[in-house]
Amino acid sequence: MKKYLALNMKAYQTSVKDVEKNIALIGALNKKTKVTTIVCPSTPMLSLVAKKFPKRSTLFLGAQDAFYETEGAYTGMTSPKLLKDLKVSHVIVGHSERRAMGETNKQVNKKIHACLKNKLIPIVCVGEKSRDAAGLFLLELKQQIIETFAELTESQFKNILIAYEPVWAIGQDAKRSATPDEAVEMALYITKILHEQLGVKNHQKISVLYGGSVNSANAHDFVKHSHIAGLLVGRASVDPKELPGLFAACK
Ligand code: PGA
Repeated sequence: MKKYLALNMKAYQTSVKDVEKNIALIGALNKKTKVTTIVCPSTPMLSLVAKKFPKRSTLFLGAQDAFYETEGAYTGMTSPKLLKDLKVSHVIVGHSERRAMGETNKQVNKKIHACLKNKLIPIVCVGEKSRDAAGLFLLELKQQIIETFAELTESQFKNILIAYEPVWAIGQDAKRSATPDEAVEMALYITKILHEQLGVKNHQKISVLYGGSVNSANAHDFVKHSHIAGLLVGRASVDPKELPGLFAACK
């Protein structure tokens, strides 16, 4: 089964040269492995990467965010329509690092609708902040999912990727990644909520990626499960020592 490898370069690289080097390595690994790769550099680099990108059916350009309005007086925001014009195909929305800066479920929902309207595939991040023994975190996640995916039709889910990203597992301060079993359970839980609450009946249309401290050592343990459609990788996506292993795992 084809697995996605989405590489969120965040704001890790601060020179054009470093981004170019990383992109060249990703391009070479993509060519070699033919893994469906979504490269998400920081916004100022999108145009340059778009120009350097070889045309290949397995290589996609992603943005790390987009605004929900197409145009107007919105200083600092990025128009989804402009992204489309730049040959961007995917957009990460609702990342926990943006939610931590105040983004609400409602705003994430508007961004999903704006992406779909502009024929961009949103990679929608959901995940609980922490876990508790009583399992209340499941209710937190349920509410987040219901509000995040409000007013979408079943057929739209084939143009959406969902990333299950438990906040406690993200970044270098995380004590651990989720276990593959936890990730599978949560992928099933997300699918169940979409089915029960939002009427998404055809489970084939729902693709759930896992993200949170994925690296070359644990990547294969996630993607070997049929319920995990791929990976959303943060810091390992700018590490030349990690990238070959990530591609090998998703092959
Ligand atoms: P990480 O980030 O791989 O650095 O934990 C994952 C993410 O935020 O998507």
